[in-house]
Amino acid sequence: MKPTALITGASGGIGYELAHLFAKAGYELIIVARSEIKLQQLKTELNDHPVTVIAEDLSHPNGAENVYHKVKEEGKTVEVLVNNAGFGLNGAFEELSLKEQKNMLQVNVHALTELTHYFLPDMKKAPFLNIPKGVLNVASVAAFQPGPRMAVYYASKAYVLSFTEALREELRGTGLTVSTLCPGATDTNFFKNANAEETKLVKRTMTPKDVANEGFLGFIKGKRVIIPGTLNRSMAVSTKLIPRSVAAKLAHYMDS
Ligand SMILES: NC(=O)c1ccc[n+]([C@@H]2O[C@H](COP(=O)([O-])OP(=O)(O)OC[C@H]3O[C@@H](n4cnc5c(N)ncnc54)[C@H](OP(=O)(O)O)[C@@H]3O)[C@@H](O)[C@H]2O)c1
Repeated sequence: MKPTALITGASGGIGYELAHLFAKAGYELIIVARSEIKLQQLKTELNDHPVTVIAEDLSHPNGAENVYHKVKEEGKTVEVLVNNAGFGLNGAFEELSLKEQKNMLQVNVHALTELTHYFLPDMKKAPFLNIPKGVLNVASVAAFQPGPRMAVYYASKAYVLSFTEALREELRGTGLTVSTLCPGATDTNFFKNANAEETKLVKRTMTPKDVANEGFLGFIKGKRVIIPGTLNRSMAVSTKLIPRSVAAKLAHYMDS
């Protein structure tokens, strides 16, 4: 029997690349996103590899619960949970739609938290000892600072980082790996969907393949926080050295 990795947001970008890497490493896949067509395409690309497709909108308050029940109906257990689905919204907080910002919190924060809560008991019981099991949560370098004009997005990623680091400590000694992946700007649909294509943030992007590679290897090695790319790592370090008020000003400049 193969261990199973459930990956949210696998229909494109970083999640799509992570799905390929976990499949190559021998994990059976459960892939989740809204776009069933794209998920089915990924399944086809992976040929005979065992893949279960779950088309679900995680911005729906019952989205995470529905995913859990569908996994149980399929008789599957989850040994690795990759909470990657997420999106951003660019604009002044008061001008962005409240409904859309609540949807963003539902996907980036609530669904991630709920899925982790649902699947942890399975993971702890899972018998696979020679292959990593646990949780890989996708935050962002945005987690390290306040982000004017993407205020709720940055705050959601600060939650993901804090939550995941705390969980890692709670689960020390259980055999589970708990890691946070903090990508910098990556060439995916993220900026288009966030209405941030015209900002300076898109000037230096990494490929989703390179980000996923570093994320996957970091998780396999049991790293606490994985920041792909030398430039992103040095920027994350310098962010810690400057006052948060200055970091907020810099983030505001980058968003213009
Ligand atoms: N790209 C960057 O610069 C960057 C930087 C730092 C962190 N990140 C983080 O990396 C993660 C992946 O983003 P990406 O860059 O790969 O962007 P992407 O190409 O837009 O992929 C986002 C994924 O999330 C899924 N998703 C979005 N809303 C969803 C919903 N309501 N329900 C279920 N699935 C949903 C999308 O699938 P469907 O549309 O089919 O639902 C897609 O598979 C996100 O958490 C993002 O915040 C990205």
